[in-house]
Amino acid sequence: MLISPSLLSADFGNIQRDVEMLNASAADMIHLDVMDGVFVPNISFGFPVIKAVQKHATKPLDVHLMIVEPQKYVSQVRDCGADIMNVHYEVCPHLHRTIQQIKQAGMKAAVTINPATPVSLLEDIVADVDMVLLMSVNPGFGGQKFIPGTIKKVKQLRELISASGSSAKIQVDGGVNMETGAQLAQAGADILVAGNFVFSSPDPIATIQELHNL
Ligand code: DX5
Ligand code: ZN
Repeated sequence: MLISPSLLSADFGNIQRDVEMLNASAADMIHLDVMDGVFVPNISFGFPVIKAVQKHATKPLDVHLMIVEPQKYVSQVRDCGADIMNVHYEVCPHLHRTIQQIKQAGMKAAVTINPATPVSLLEDIVADVDMVLLMSVNPGFGGQKFIPGTIKKVKQLRELISASGSSAKIQVDGGVNMETGAQLAQAGADILVAGNFVFSSPDPIATIQELHNL
């Protein structure tokens, strides 16, 4: 299982220390949650913070944009050192164009759907993306409870990916711990995002390793 720890739950006063911890861990990438207070009811951090993280990170940066009009920021996200640019289905009326722009900028392109957005809506875009992120909580906050219906969505997405010949990876974000992580692994998820579970652990490096072994 690939693991993308979310920096949203890191200690922002010691961000370099926490990034170095992730560098030394079994994390496969680093998940960065950008929130605008419009698409989601919270504001997190923006491009200057991602640039600061990039200076210290030795793992790929997985940037999850919970913002309206993400297409306006493709080149800025790339210039921050992002490897994966992830936009929400719910804010992209011209999703195909946005996905092409992300790829043309040299990044991997990913699309995210909220818990209330059905997997079937991805039918005509799944072959074009490198990754699909299924939100297993309503986006905006770390430390929320996993929504169990996500398991069924992972299975539906796995079928849609196989049927379309897509090589998209399935990522899941929100409420991931050993128990929900095991269920997601069983259902066919490829990448787990984990924030609170990793950073509230007494030994985050061991916790990342345990998730990685799922
Ligand atoms: C929620 C964010 C998540 C968040 C996950 O809006 O997209 O990435 O950090 O947090 P946990 O793992 O604490 O549920
Ligand atoms: Zn996220």
